[in-house]
Amino acid sequence: MKALILVGGFGTRLRPLTLSVPKPLVDFANKPMILHQIEALKAIGVNEVVLAINYRPEVMLNFLKEFEAKLGIKITCSRETEPLGTAGPLALARDTLIDDSGEPFFVLNSDVISEYPLKEMIEFHKAHGGEASIMVTKVDEPSKYGVVVMEETTGQVEKFVEKPKLFVDNKINAGIYLLNPSVLDRIELRPTSIEKEVFPSIAAEKKLYAMVLPGFWMDIGQPRDYISGLRLYLDSLRKKNSSKLESGPHILGNVIVDETAKIGEECLIGPDVAIGPGCIVESGVRLSRCTIMRGVRIKKHACISSSIIGWHSTVGQWARVENMTILGEDVHVCDEIYSNGGVVLPHKEIKSSILNPEIVM
Ligand code: GDD
Ligand code: MG
Repeated sequence: MKALILVGGFGTRLRPLTLSVPKPLVDFANKPMILHQIEALKAIGVNEVVLAINYRPEVMLNFLKEFEAKLGIKITCSRETEPLGTAGPLALARDTLIDDSGEPFFVLNSDVISEYPLKEMIEFHKAHGGEASIMVTKVDEPSKYGVVVMEETTGQVEKFVEKPKLFVDNKINAGIYLLNPSVLDRIELRPTSIEKEVFPSIAAEKKLYAMVLPGFWMDIGQPRDYISGLRLYLDSLRKKNSSKLESGPHILGNVIVDETAKIGEECLIGPDVAIGPGCIVESGVRLSRCTIMRGVRIKKHACISSSIIGWHSTVGQWARVENMTILGEDVHVCDEIYSNGGVVLPHKEIKSSILNPEIVM
């Protein structure tokens, strides 16, 4: 079985992290976002993943070569010379997606995180006999998503409206699709949107079906949602009694710590914290609702909450970093500094406090 991941554009909403790597390679819960998806696909028998990409494919491919071997899955790139939107890339990769088996294939947005109930989706798809299946989830603020109106019992989609201005429903497109090869006959090789052009037309023919996603879901393409997404992800590990969660007197709530990270004495860590490979957290540090990426050093008595600390950065002693502070790669926050929502570009040294949310270039 095959899958295509829409890797796409510049990931501007996740800057400064995406100044260092393409969005799908930004770490989430201690591994690149896209690996969560590739592992889930592999687990249900997908043997080839096509990455539909229009920006820096070398970086992605170099990185993923390593995982091709580790995971035993074929990973190829389909490179656009101009952005083809969310449907055009399927037409471009047509020859790879179609084979003699006639099997349906998966398509995933690269910036969503969820339980990936892909096996259930295959069963759902077989049972309804339509042309395409999409996963939907309920959200409080549907206007920034694709909204789906469906017949509750059968899942048949009556209407698909991308980013509606007026309220239609609270069920939205989760960015996980299973499509019959015949869907490709509906897509021309040009910049085109699966949400605005393809799904509405399949829905009009009553051949589009939606399945409500069990468990959590989040589009983590923006810092605030990324931090909320980590909370939901760790919560789902807790529900599964996962052995990945830390425990001990210095741990509060749900926390994951890579086995190569070192934690000093008298720290208090949690809730909702991920500490990546090779990190050094010195003594007396307080961390909550934050992501500490690979190779970071947090010095004594620093306090970090609701923030993301990019790869190989350092946070000085007694520093206080909070309120959606996002440090890019290799940022150095000096001792005793306060950051209230600073968004700091890579390779900067912060010598004076950031009192109000601002971008530090
Ligand atoms: N290859 C390629 N080329 N990929 C693209 C392009 C392109 O030109 N444009 C966007 N993508 C990729 C993005 O990287 C992302 O993985 C996916 O397509 C969706 O694009 P976003 O820019 O993240 O769209 P969105 O978040 O506003 O809305 C989409 O996702 C929502 C769920 O998070 C839509 O699919 C909505 O219907 C959906 O509800
Ligand atoms: Mg998105």
